[in-house]
Amino acid sequence: MTSSFDAVSNLQEAAKRNLWLHFTRMSGYEDGEVPVIVRGSGAYVFDQHGKRYLDGLSGLFVSQVGHGRQEIAEAGARQASELAYFPLWSYAHPKAIELAQRLAELAPGDLNRVFFTTSGSEAVESAWKLAKQYFKLTGQPERYKVISRDIAYHGTSMGALAVTGLADIKYPFEPMTPGGVRVPNTNFYRAPAFVSDDLEAFGRWAADEIERAILREGPKSVAAVYLEPVQNSGGCFPPPPGYFQRVREICDTYGVLLVSDEVICAFGRLGYYFGSERYGYQPDIITFAKGVTSGYAPLGGMMVSDALMEPFITGTATFLHGITFAGHPVSTAVALANLDIFEKEDLLGNVRANERAFRATLEKLVDLPIVGEVRGAGYFYGIELVKDKATRETFDDDESERLLRGFLSQALFDAGLVCRADDRGDPVIQLAPPLICGQEHFDEMERILRAVLTEAWTRL
Ligand SMILES: Cc1ncc(COP(=O)(O)O)c(C=O)c1O
Repeated sequence: MTSSFDAVSNLQEAAKRNLWLHFTRMSGYEDGEVPVIVRGSGAYVFDQHGKRYLDGLSGLFVSQVGHGRQEIAEAGARQASELAYFPLWSYAHPKAIELAQRLAELAPGDLNRVFFTTSGSEAVESAWKLAKQYFKLTGQPERYKVISRDIAYHGTSMGALAVTGLADIKYPFEPMTPGGVRVPNTNFYRAPAFVSDDLEAFGRWAADEIERAILREGPKSVAAVYLEPVQNSGGCFPPPPGYFQRVREICDTYGVLLVSDEVICAFGRLGYYFGSERYGYQPDIITFAKGVTSGYAPLGGMMVSDALMEPFITGTATFLHGITFAGHPVSTAVALANLDIFEKEDLLGNVRANERAFRATLEKLVDLPIVGEVRGAGYFYGIELVKDKATRETFDDDESERLLRGFLSQALFDAGLVCRADDRGDPVIQLAPPLICGQEHFDEMERILRAVLTEAWTRL
Protein backbone atom coordinates (compact mmCIF):
# COMPACT_ATOMS: atom_id res chain seq x y z
CA MET A 1 0.00 0.00 0.00
CA THR A 2 1.24 3.53 -0.79
CA SER A 3 1.54 5.77 2.24
CA SER A 4 0.41 9.39 2.05
CA PHE A 5 4.11 10.37 2.27
CA ASP A 6 4.82 8.29 -0.87
CA ALA A 7 1.80 9.72 -2.68
CA VAL A 8 3.02 13.27 -1.97
CA SER A 9 6.59 12.59 -3.07
CA ASN A 10 5.45 10.71 -6.18
CA LEU A 11 3.34 13.69 -7.20
CA GLN A 12 6.31 16.01 -6.62
CA GLU A 13 8.64 13.86 -8.66
CA ALA A 14 6.19 13.54 -11.56
CA ALA A 15 5.35 17.25 -11.46
CA LYS A 16 9.03 18.08 -11.81
CA ARG A 17 9.71 15.45 -14.47
CA ASN A 18 6.60 15.64 -16.68
CA LEU A 19 4.59 18.80 -16.14
CA TRP A 20 5.30 22.18 -17.72
CA LEU A 21 3.85 25.09 -15.74
CA HIS A 22 2.67 28.18 -17.62
CA PHE A 23 4.60 31.45 -17.42
CA THR A 24 6.81 29.75 -14.81
CA ARG A 25 10.56 29.64 -14.43
CA MET A 26 10.82 25.87 -14.01
CA SER A 27 14.35 26.06 -12.57
CA GLY A 28 12.79 27.82 -9.57
CA TYR A 29 11.56 24.41 -8.37
CA GLU A 30 14.92 22.63 -8.54
CA ASP A 31 15.41 22.91 -4.81
CA GLY A 32 11.85 23.50 -3.61
CA GLU A 33 8.44 21.92 -3.91
CA VAL A 34 6.02 22.53 -6.75
CA PRO A 35 2.89 23.83 -4.98
CA VAL A 36 0.16 21.26 -5.58
CA ILE A 37 -3.38 22.41 -4.87
CA VAL A 38 -5.70 19.47 -4.34
CA ARG A 39 -9.01 20.82 -3.09
CA GLY A 40 -11.10 23.96 -2.69
CA SER A 41 -13.97 25.07 -0.50
CA GLY A 42 -15.55 28.53 -0.57
CA ALA A 43 -12.83 31.18 -0.60
CA TYR A 44 -10.10 28.69 0.39
CA VAL A 45 -7.91 26.10 -1.33
CA PHE A 46 -5.82 23.32 0.23
CA ASP A 47 -2.46 21.92 -0.82
CA GLN A 48 -1.31 18.32 -0.82
CA HIS A 49 -0.17 18.61 2.79
CA GLY A 50 -3.59 19.82 3.88
CA LYS A 51 -2.45 23.43 4.40
CA ARG A 52 -5.15 26.05 3.79
CA TYR A 53 -4.77 29.22 1.67
CA LEU A 54 -7.10 32.16 1.14
CA ASP A 55 -7.65 32.35 -2.61
CA GLY A 56 -7.12 36.08 -3.00
CA LEU A 57 -6.94 35.84 -6.79
CA SER A 58 -9.92 33.53 -7.49
CA GLY A 59 -7.40 31.13 -9.02
CA LEU A 60 -6.64 33.46 -11.91
CA PHE A 61 -9.56 35.95 -11.77
CA VAL A 62 -11.89 32.98 -12.36
CA SER A 63 -13.58 31.47 -9.28
CA GLN A 64 -16.33 34.06 -8.78
CA VAL A 65 -18.70 31.82 -6.79
CA GLY A 66 -15.88 30.17 -4.86
CA HIS A 67 -14.72 26.58 -4.76
CA GLY A 68 -16.55 23.31 -4.09
CA ARG A 69 -20.04 24.16 -5.38
CA GLN A 70 -21.88 20.86 -5.64
CA GLU A 71 -24.75 22.20 -7.74
CA ILE A 72 -22.39 23.33 -10.51
CA ALA A 73 -20.48 20.04 -10.46
CA GLU A 74 -23.78 18.16 -10.66
CA ALA A 75 -25.04 20.29 -13.57
CA GLY A 76 -21.84 19.39 -15.45
CA ALA A 77 -22.15 15.71 -14.62
CA ARG A 78 -25.83 15.61 -15.71
CA GLN A 79 -24.96 17.22 -19.03
CA ALA A 80 -22.02 14.84 -19.62
CA SER A 81 -24.33 11.85 -19.22
CA GLU A 82 -27.02 13.31 -21.45
CA LEU A 83 -24.87 14.77 -24.26
CA ALA A 84 -21.17 15.09 -23.51
CA TYR A 85 -20.19 16.58 -26.81
CA PHE A 86 -21.50 17.92 -30.03
CA PRO A 87 -19.98 20.75 -32.07
CA LEU A 88 -21.48 24.15 -32.77
CA TRP A 89 -20.39 23.74 -36.38
CA SER A 90 -23.78 23.68 -38.21
CA TYR A 91 -25.55 22.22 -35.15
CA ALA A 92 -26.82 23.70 -31.90
CA HIS A 93 -27.46 22.09 -28.52
CA PRO A 94 -29.92 23.26 -25.85
CA LYS A 95 -27.45 24.55 -23.27
CA ALA A 96 -25.56 26.71 -25.79
CA ILE A 97 -28.88 28.17 -26.96
CA GLU A 98 -30.10 28.78 -23.42
CA LEU A 99 -26.83 30.39 -22.34
CA ALA A 100 -26.66 32.59 -25.46
CA GLN A 101 -30.19 33.81 -24.74
CA ARG A 102 -29.37 34.48 -21.09
CA LEU A 103 -26.17 36.37 -21.92
CA ALA A 104 -28.02 38.45 -24.52
CA GLU A 105 -30.49 39.46 -21.81
CA LEU A 106 -27.66 40.45 -19.45
CA ALA A 107 -25.41 42.27 -21.94
CA PRO A 108 -25.75 46.00 -22.57
CA GLY A 109 -27.66 47.37 -25.58
CA ASP A 110 -27.97 45.29 -28.71
CA LEU A 111 -25.21 42.77 -28.01
CA ASN A 112 -27.54 39.94 -28.89
CA ARG A 113 -25.34 37.39 -30.59
CA VAL A 114 -22.90 35.07 -28.81
CA PHE A 115 -19.99 33.34 -30.54
CA PHE A 116 -18.50 30.88 -28.06
CA THR A 117 -14.82 29.98 -27.68
CA THR A 118 -12.99 27.96 -25.05
CA SER A 119 -10.75 30.76 -23.72
CA GLY A 120 -10.10 34.47 -23.47
CA SER A 121 -7.30 34.48 -26.04
CA GLU A 122 -9.59 32.79 -28.54
CA ALA A 123 -12.30 35.35 -27.77
CA VAL A 124 -9.89 38.24 -28.37
CA GLU A 125 -8.64 36.64 -31.56
CA SER A 126 -12.18 35.83 -32.75
CA ALA A 127 -13.16 39.49 -32.32
CA TRP A 128 -10.23 40.56 -34.50
CA LYS A 129 -11.10 38.00 -37.16
CA LEU A 130 -14.72 39.09 -37.09
CA ALA A 131 -13.73 42.76 -37.45
CA LYS A 132 -11.51 41.92 -40.43
CA GLN A 133 -14.12 39.83 -42.22
CA TYR A 134 -16.92 42.28 -41.40
CA PHE A 135 -15.00 45.14 -43.00
CA LYS A 136 -14.14 43.02 -46.04
CA LEU A 137 -17.83 42.23 -46.49
CA THR A 138 -18.90 45.83 -46.08
CA GLY A 139 -16.56 47.39 -48.62
CA GLN A 140 -13.71 48.51 -46.33
CA PRO A 141 -11.17 45.73 -46.88
CA GLU A 142 -8.18 47.87 -45.85
CA ARG A 143 -9.30 48.05 -42.20
CA TYR A 144 -7.22 45.52 -40.26
CA LYS A 145 -5.27 47.31 -37.51
CA VAL A 146 -6.12 47.09 -33.82
CA ILE A 147 -5.31 49.63 -31.15
CA SER A 148 -4.72 48.61 -27.53
CA ARG A 149 -2.95 50.04 -24.49
CA ASP A 150 0.59 49.88 -23.12
CA ILE A 151 1.19 46.93 -20.77
CA ALA A 152 -2.35 45.56 -21.38
CA TYR A 153 -2.62 41.76 -21.47
CA HIS A 154 -5.08 40.35 -24.00
CA GLY A 155 -3.84 36.76 -24.31
CA THR A 156 -1.05 34.65 -25.71
CA SER A 157 -2.08 33.02 -28.99
CA MET A 158 -0.36 34.75 -31.91
CA GLY A 159 -3.29 37.02 -32.81
CA ALA A 160 -4.13 37.91 -29.21
CA LEU A 161 -0.41 38.43 -28.52
CA ALA A 162 -0.34 41.11 -31.23
CA VAL A 163 -3.11 42.91 -29.30
CA THR A 164 -1.21 42.49 -26.01
CA GLY A 165 0.95 45.46 -25.00
CA LEU A 166 3.69 43.71 -23.01
CA ALA A 167 6.96 43.80 -24.96
CA ASP A 168 8.75 41.16 -22.88
CA ILE A 169 6.24 38.38 -23.53
CA LYS A 170 6.09 39.21 -27.26
CA TYR A 171 9.78 39.47 -28.00
CA PRO A 172 10.54 35.69 -28.16
CA PHE A 173 7.77 35.25 -30.73
CA GLU A 174 8.52 38.11 -33.11
CA PRO A 175 7.60 38.84 -35.80
CA MET A 176 4.07 39.58 -34.61
CA THR A 177 0.89 39.37 -36.64
CA PRO A 178 0.87 42.79 -38.33
CA GLY A 179 -1.53 45.51 -37.21
CA GLY A 180 -1.05 45.94 -33.43
CA VAL A 181 -0.82 49.62 -32.42
CA ARG A 182 -0.20 50.87 -28.84
CA VAL A 183 -1.57 53.89 -26.99
CA PRO A 184 -1.07 55.04 -23.35
CA ASN A 185 -3.02 53.35 -20.58
CA THR A 186 -4.89 55.09 -17.75
CA ASN A 187 -2.26 54.80 -15.00
CA PHE A 188 -2.90 58.14 -13.27
CA TYR A 189 -0.25 57.39 -10.63
CA ARG A 190 2.31 57.69 -13.41
CA ALA A 191 0.55 60.30 -15.54
CA PRO A 192 2.68 62.72 -17.63
CA ALA A 193 3.46 65.90 -15.67
CA PHE A 194 1.20 68.18 -17.74
CA VAL A 195 -1.94 66.27 -16.66
CA SER A 196 -0.74 64.73 -13.39
CA ASP A 197 -2.90 66.93 -11.11
CA ASP A 198 -6.21 66.63 -12.99
CA LEU A 199 -7.78 63.19 -13.39
CA GLU A 200 -10.36 64.28 -15.96
CA ALA A 201 -7.80 66.12 -18.08
CA PHE A 202 -5.59 63.04 -17.88
CA GLY A 203 -8.48 60.85 -19.06
CA ARG A 204 -9.26 63.20 -21.93
CA TRP A 205 -5.61 63.19 -22.97
CA ALA A 206 -5.41 59.37 -22.78
CA ALA A 207 -8.60 59.00 -24.87
CA ASP A 208 -7.42 61.61 -27.37
CA GLU A 209 -4.23 59.59 -27.80
CA ILE A 210 -6.46 56.95 -29.40
CA GLU A 211 -7.65 59.53 -31.92
CA ARG A 212 -4.08 60.59 -32.59
CA ALA A 213 -3.11 56.96 -33.17
CA ILE A 214 -6.02 56.48 -35.60
CA LEU A 215 -4.99 59.62 -37.54
CA ARG A 216 -1.33 58.59 -37.54
CA GLU A 217 -2.08 55.07 -38.80
CA GLY A 218 -4.63 56.28 -41.36
CA PRO A 219 -8.28 56.20 -40.23
CA LYS A 220 -9.30 53.82 -42.99
CA SER A 221 -6.77 51.20 -41.87
CA VAL A 222 -8.01 50.82 -38.28
CA ALA A 223 -10.55 48.08 -37.51
CA ALA A 224 -10.91 48.06 -33.73
CA VAL A 225 -9.85 49.44 -30.36
CA TYR A 226 -9.44 46.87 -27.52
CA LEU A 227 -9.85 48.14 -23.97
CA GLU A 228 -10.49 46.47 -20.63
CA PRO A 229 -12.98 48.34 -18.40
CA VAL A 230 -10.28 48.27 -15.68
CA GLN A 231 -6.88 47.34 -17.09
CA ASN A 232 -5.42 44.40 -15.22
CA SER A 233 -1.79 44.33 -16.21
CA GLY A 234 0.22 47.07 -14.52
CA GLY A 235 -2.03 46.77 -11.47
CA CYS A 236 -5.69 47.71 -11.97
CA PHE A 237 -6.04 51.02 -13.81
CA PRO A 238 -9.66 52.22 -13.56
CA PRO A 239 -10.88 54.58 -16.31
CA PRO A 240 -10.90 58.30 -15.45
CA PRO A 241 -14.37 59.90 -15.54
CA GLY A 242 -15.45 60.53 -19.14
CA TYR A 243 -12.70 58.37 -20.65
CA PHE A 244 -14.93 55.73 -22.22
CA GLN A 245 -17.48 58.30 -23.40
CA ARG A 246 -14.71 60.11 -25.31
CA VAL A 247 -13.40 56.79 -26.69
CA ARG A 248 -16.90 55.88 -27.91
CA GLU A 249 -17.13 59.26 -29.64
CA ILE A 250 -13.76 58.74 -31.34
CA CYS A 251 -14.70 55.23 -32.50
CA ASP A 252 -17.97 56.55 -33.96
CA THR A 253 -16.20 59.42 -35.73
CA TYR A 254 -13.77 57.11 -37.52
CA GLY A 255 -15.96 54.02 -37.94
CA VAL A 256 -13.75 51.93 -35.65
CA LEU A 257 -15.19 49.09 -33.55
CA LEU A 258 -14.94 49.29 -29.77
CA VAL A 259 -14.08 45.92 -28.24
CA SER A 260 -14.53 45.75 -24.47
CA ASP A 261 -12.21 42.95 -23.34
CA GLU A 262 -14.03 41.77 -20.23
CA VAL A 263 -12.26 38.46 -19.77
CA ILE A 264 -11.59 39.58 -16.19
CA CYS A 265 -14.07 42.43 -15.64
CA ALA A 266 -17.34 40.65 -16.57
CA PHE A 267 -19.44 38.46 -14.29
CA GLY A 268 -19.36 40.44 -11.10
CA ARG A 269 -15.69 41.33 -10.74
CA LEU A 270 -16.72 45.02 -10.76
CA GLY A 271 -20.16 44.48 -9.20
CA TYR A 272 -21.99 44.25 -12.56
CA TYR A 273 -22.46 41.49 -15.10
CA PHE A 274 -20.36 43.56 -17.50
CA GLY A 275 -17.77 46.23 -16.74
CA SER A 276 -19.06 48.40 -19.60
CA GLU A 277 -22.33 48.65 -17.68
CA ARG A 278 -20.52 50.01 -14.63
CA TYR A 279 -18.79 52.70 -16.67
CA GLY A 280 -21.77 53.48 -18.89
CA TYR A 281 -20.44 52.82 -22.39
CA GLN A 282 -21.75 50.69 -25.23
CA PRO A 283 -19.21 48.37 -26.87
CA ASP A 284 -19.61 46.84 -30.34
CA ILE A 285 -18.12 43.58 -29.07
CA ILE A 286 -17.57 42.21 -25.56
CA THR A 287 -15.05 39.41 -25.10
CA PHE A 288 -15.46 37.22 -22.01
CA ALA A 289 -14.18 33.96 -20.43
CA LYS A 290 -13.03 33.11 -16.87
CA GLY A 291 -15.93 34.05 -14.54
CA VAL A 292 -18.67 32.90 -16.93
CA THR A 293 -18.23 29.39 -15.51
CA SER A 294 -16.32 30.31 -12.32
CA GLY A 295 -13.80 27.81 -13.68
CA TYR A 296 -15.90 24.67 -13.25
CA ALA A 297 -15.28 24.09 -16.98
CA PRO A 298 -13.52 26.16 -19.63
CA LEU A 299 -15.54 28.60 -21.72
CA GLY A 300 -15.10 31.96 -23.43
CA GLY A 301 -16.79 33.92 -26.15
CA MET A 302 -17.68 37.21 -27.73
CA MET A 303 -20.97 39.06 -27.72
CA VAL A 304 -21.64 40.96 -30.89
CA SER A 305 -24.04 43.76 -31.82
CA ASP A 306 -26.89 43.25 -34.29
CA ALA A 307 -25.18 45.65 -36.71
CA LEU A 308 -22.02 43.54 -36.86
CA MET A 309 -24.01 40.37 -37.39
CA GLU A 310 -26.04 41.88 -40.21
CA PRO A 311 -23.81 40.97 -43.20
CA PHE A 312 -23.65 37.39 -41.92
CA ILE A 313 -27.38 36.95 -41.48
CA THR A 314 -28.90 38.50 -44.56
CA GLY A 315 -26.63 37.28 -47.34
CA THR A 316 -24.67 34.16 -48.21
CA ALA A 317 -21.66 35.07 -46.07
CA THR A 318 -20.29 32.72 -43.41
CA PHE A 319 -17.96 33.73 -40.57
CA LEU A 320 -15.09 31.40 -41.52
CA HIS A 321 -13.99 30.58 -38.02
CA GLY A 322 -14.65 27.83 -35.48
CA ILE A 323 -13.18 25.86 -32.57
CA THR A 324 -13.95 22.20 -31.81
CA PHE A 325 -14.65 22.58 -28.09
CA ALA A 326 -16.19 26.07 -28.19
CA GLY A 327 -19.56 26.26 -26.44
CA HIS A 328 -19.02 22.75 -25.09
CA PRO A 329 -22.25 21.24 -23.67
CA VAL A 330 -20.70 20.62 -20.24
CA SER A 331 -19.22 24.13 -20.08
CA THR A 332 -22.45 25.85 -21.10
CA ALA A 333 -24.48 23.76 -18.62
CA VAL A 334 -21.97 24.72 -15.93
CA ALA A 335 -22.17 28.41 -16.91
CA LEU A 336 -25.96 28.35 -16.49
CA ALA A 337 -25.66 26.78 -13.04
CA ASN A 338 -23.01 29.38 -12.19
CA LEU A 339 -25.32 32.24 -13.21
CA ASP A 340 -28.11 30.68 -11.14
CA ILE A 341 -25.87 31.08 -8.08
CA PHE A 342 -25.16 34.71 -9.02
CA GLU A 343 -28.90 35.35 -8.92
CA LYS A 344 -29.79 33.22 -5.93
CA GLU A 345 -27.06 34.68 -3.72
CA ASP A 346 -27.12 38.20 -5.20
CA LEU A 347 -23.36 38.17 -5.71
CA LEU A 348 -23.41 41.46 -7.59
CA GLY A 349 -25.17 42.98 -4.57
CA ASN A 350 -22.51 41.51 -2.29
CA VAL A 351 -19.69 43.11 -4.29
CA ARG A 352 -21.46 46.47 -4.44
CA ALA A 353 -22.25 46.41 -0.72
CA ASN A 354 -18.69 45.46 0.29
CA GLU A 355 -16.40 47.09 -2.23
CA ARG A 356 -15.90 50.22 -0.13
CA ALA A 357 -14.96 48.10 2.87
CA PHE A 358 -12.55 46.09 0.69
CA ARG A 359 -10.86 49.28 -0.51
CA ALA A 360 -10.76 50.77 3.00
CA THR A 361 -9.17 47.60 4.42
CA LEU A 362 -6.48 47.50 1.72
CA GLU A 363 -5.85 51.23 2.08
CA LYS A 364 -4.73 50.65 5.67
CA LEU A 365 -1.54 49.29 4.05
CA VAL A 366 -0.67 52.74 2.72
CA ASP A 367 1.07 53.46 6.04
CA LEU A 368 3.83 51.01 5.00
CA PRO A 369 6.86 52.64 3.36
CA ILE A 370 6.79 50.19 0.44
CA VAL A 371 3.14 50.78 -0.56
CA GLY A 372 2.85 53.53 -3.16
CA GLU A 373 -0.80 53.25 -4.13
CA VAL A 374 -3.88 51.05 -3.72
CA ARG A 375 -6.16 51.21 -6.77
CA GLY A 376 -8.98 49.33 -8.44
CA ALA A 377 -12.73 48.83 -8.29
CA GLY A 378 -15.21 46.18 -7.18
CA TYR A 379 -13.31 43.08 -6.05
CA PHE A 380 -10.31 43.88 -8.24
CA TYR A 381 -7.34 45.70 -6.70
CA GLY A 382 -3.68 46.38 -7.34
CA ILE A 383 -1.16 47.56 -4.75
CA GLU A 384 1.81 49.32 -6.32
CA LEU A 385 5.10 48.86 -4.51
CA VAL A 386 7.72 51.61 -4.58
CA LYS A 387 11.22 52.22 -3.29
CA ASP A 388 10.45 55.84 -2.39
CA LYS A 389 6.91 57.02 -1.70
CA ALA A 390 7.72 60.72 -2.05
CA THR A 391 9.32 60.45 -5.49
CA ARG A 392 7.35 57.32 -6.55
CA GLU A 393 10.68 55.82 -7.58
CA THR A 394 10.29 52.18 -8.54
CA PHE A 395 12.72 49.28 -8.13
CA ASP A 396 15.52 48.54 -10.59
CA ASP A 397 15.67 45.15 -12.33
CA ASP A 398 17.93 43.65 -9.72
CA GLU A 399 15.74 44.78 -6.81
CA SER A 400 12.61 43.57 -8.59
CA GLU A 401 14.23 40.21 -9.13
CA ARG A 402 15.23 39.90 -5.49
CA LEU A 403 12.02 41.35 -4.08
CA LEU A 404 9.23 39.95 -6.25
CA ARG A 405 10.58 36.73 -7.65
CA GLY A 406 13.09 36.02 -4.89
CA PHE A 407 10.92 36.79 -1.88
CA LEU A 408 7.39 38.19 -2.12
CA SER A 409 5.56 35.57 -4.20
CA GLN A 410 6.83 32.70 -2.10
CA ALA A 411 6.48 34.51 1.23
CA LEU A 412 2.84 35.46 0.57
CA PHE A 413 2.04 31.91 -0.43
CA ASP A 414 3.87 30.51 2.60
CA ALA A 415 1.84 32.88 4.77
CA GLY A 416 -1.37 31.39 3.37
CA LEU A 417 -2.44 33.90 0.71
CA VAL A 418 -2.83 33.22 -3.00
CA CYS A 419 -2.34 36.52 -4.82
CA ARG A 420 -0.04 37.76 -7.50
CA ALA A 421 3.20 39.69 -7.31
CA ASP A 422 3.63 41.00 -10.83
CA ASP A 423 6.27 43.23 -12.37
CA ARG A 424 5.25 43.18 -15.99
CA GLY A 425 4.68 46.91 -15.50
CA ASP A 426 5.77 48.55 -12.27
CA PRO A 427 5.79 46.05 -9.37
CA VAL A 428 2.31 45.38 -8.01
CA ILE A 429 0.44 42.89 -5.90
CA GLN A 430 -2.92 41.97 -7.32
CA LEU A 431 -6.02 40.85 -5.49
CA ALA A 432 -9.29 39.57 -6.91
CA PRO A 433 -11.02 37.38 -4.32
CA PRO A 434 -14.15 35.28 -4.95
CA LEU A 435 -17.31 37.40 -4.96
CA ILE A 436 -18.63 35.61 -1.87
CA CYS A 437 -15.93 37.21 0.31
CA GLY A 438 -16.64 39.65 3.12
CA GLN A 439 -14.87 41.61 5.86
CA GLU A 440 -13.22 38.62 7.55
CA HIS A 441 -11.49 37.73 4.27
CA PHE A 442 -10.44 41.34 3.66
CA ASP A 443 -8.93 41.43 7.17
CA GLU A 444 -7.08 38.18 6.56
CA MET A 445 -5.58 39.55 3.33
CA GLU A 446 -4.54 42.80 5.04
CA ARG A 447 -2.95 40.96 7.96
CA ILE A 448 -0.87 38.68 5.73
CA LEU A 449 0.12 41.47 3.33
CA ARG A 450 1.15 43.74 6.22
CA ALA A 451 3.44 41.12 7.73
CA VAL A 452 5.05 40.08 4.43
CA LEU A 453 5.45 43.62 3.03
CA THR A 454 6.99 44.77 6.31
CA GLU A 455 9.52 41.95 6.07
CA ALA A 456 10.15 42.74 2.36
CA TRP A 457 11.10 46.34 3.24
CA THR A 458 13.80 45.14 5.63
CA ARG A 459 15.33 43.05 2.85
CA LEU A 460 15.81 45.87 0.37
C1 LIG B 1 -8.20 40.92 -20.45
C2 LIG B 1 -7.77 39.56 -20.87
N1 LIG B 1 -7.94 39.17 -22.14
C3 LIG B 1 -7.59 37.93 -22.55
C4 LIG B 1 -7.03 37.01 -21.69
C5 LIG B 1 -6.65 35.65 -22.17
O1 LIG B 1 -7.48 34.69 -21.63
P1 LIG B 1 -7.07 33.13 -21.62
O2 LIG B 1 -5.95 32.98 -20.67
O3 LIG B 1 -8.33 32.45 -21.20
O4 LIG B 1 -6.70 32.80 -23.02
C6 LIG B 1 -6.83 37.37 -20.35
C7 LIG B 1 -6.25 36.42 -19.39
O5 LIG B 1 -5.95 36.72 -18.28
C8 LIG B 1 -7.21 38.68 -19.93
O6 LIG B 1 -7.03 39.07 -18.66
